[in-house]
Amino acid sequence: MRIYFDHNATTPVDPAVVEVVARTLADEFGNASSVHHFGQRAKGVLDDARSAVANLIGGEPSELVFTSGGTESDNFAIRGVAEALEPTGRRHLIASTIEHEAVIVTLKALARRGWRTTLIPVGASGIVEASALEAALDDETALVSIMHANNEIGTVQPIAELAALAHARGALFHTDAVQSAGKIAVDVRRLGVDLLSLSAHKFNGPKGAGALWIKRGTRITSILTGGKHERSRRAGTENVPAIAGLGKAAQLAASKISTEGARLSALRTRLEQGVLARVPGTAINGAPEPRVPNTTNISFEAIEAESLLIALDLEGVAVSTGSACSSGTLEPSHVLRAMGLPTHRTQNSIRISLGSGNTDAHVDYFLEKLPAVVQKLRSLTGARR
Ligand SMILES: Cc1ncc(COP(=O)(O)O)c(C=O)c1O
Repeated sequence: MRIYFDHNATTPVDPAVVEVVARTLADEFGNASSVHHFGQRAKGVLDDARSAVANLIGGEPSELVFTSGGTESDNFAIRGVAEALEPTGRRHLIASTIEHEAVIVTLKALARRGWRTTLIPVGASGIVEASALEAALDDETALVSIMHANNEIGTVQPIAELAALAHARGALFHTDAVQSAGKIAVDVRRLGVDLLSLSAHKFNGPKGAGALWIKRGTRITSILTGGKHERSRRAGTENVPAIAGLGKAAQLAASKISTEGARLSALRTRLEQGVLARVPGTAINGAPEPRVPNTTNISFEAIEAESLLIALDLEGVAVSTGSACSSGTLEPSHVLRAMGLPTHRTQNSIRISLGSGNTDAHVDYFLEKLPAVVQKLRSLTGARR
């Protein structure tokens, strides 16, 4: 039995998406910028994908720029706005301490080049408080970047409230919706944001395809310069097959967002309750609500997360110790640390992220294997309970 419980790292590509990508790769080789028949067919593929992604998030197709994924979209939003607003004297950027590295490391890079940056704290809930943002905002703030859903604990941030606060001080607002788009309803107008990042491989699409939604009229400078692709906002010949896959994945996600969300939420509840009941010394990290329905992060007293990950992998269950970027190193999660969890809990927690292929049988198997795995690890370290 092989069970994949790591959908926040990436998801399996839906067979219908595979079919669209393969067909586009074979048949639509034209350059979407070419005027002739072949180019126009490729452009048609991009137009369809743009409409599907716009429909998923409630924006206009013309407001979307295709990118190579979440990391590029986050970089484009932050670097692009920072550069565009530099002449206005707004040289202050705000993000939260629980952002993905694509945001935090980008802010650090800009800090080295003279931008003032503030990372606002979160409490043990893993939710950004409006008061923390209010305290950080000033008249020089150019951009606030707060993620919609956290990749490690799944908490959903009060984006509409935070964006309104940013706007009241004349700042723009970006949200990294890489872990929410395709999983829960995302509506750019209701969220009230100016920029939103998403990535296809987090919702059963291909890797290397994503988008940045940019509200019409938002001041932003291109970070990839060259030709006039994507209405001169992102130079480079478009990856038409991958973008077609993004469009198909967006269409599929939109068609089942509430049914799949309810299904995963029920699976997660059973999984969490099962773990808490069967394994002593366990606790859920972060606020139980609001969360994306597929994610849980659980701490196991007297266990090393990496050892548990490996032991579970030997039983055929793939989980994670945090974001994919930080797993593989023994660094404790910066998110759990930022939430103020004690050091041992930042090192004994695993993330389980469910997805479309998971079933009740997977949760049953996991709950059946887990107690013995944990007991064995605890007995090896002499920490019997
Ligand atoms: C919240 C968040 N932002 C950004 C990214 C980066 O996206 P991509 O892998 O498409 O570059 C990820 C991926 O783990 C993520 O979880």
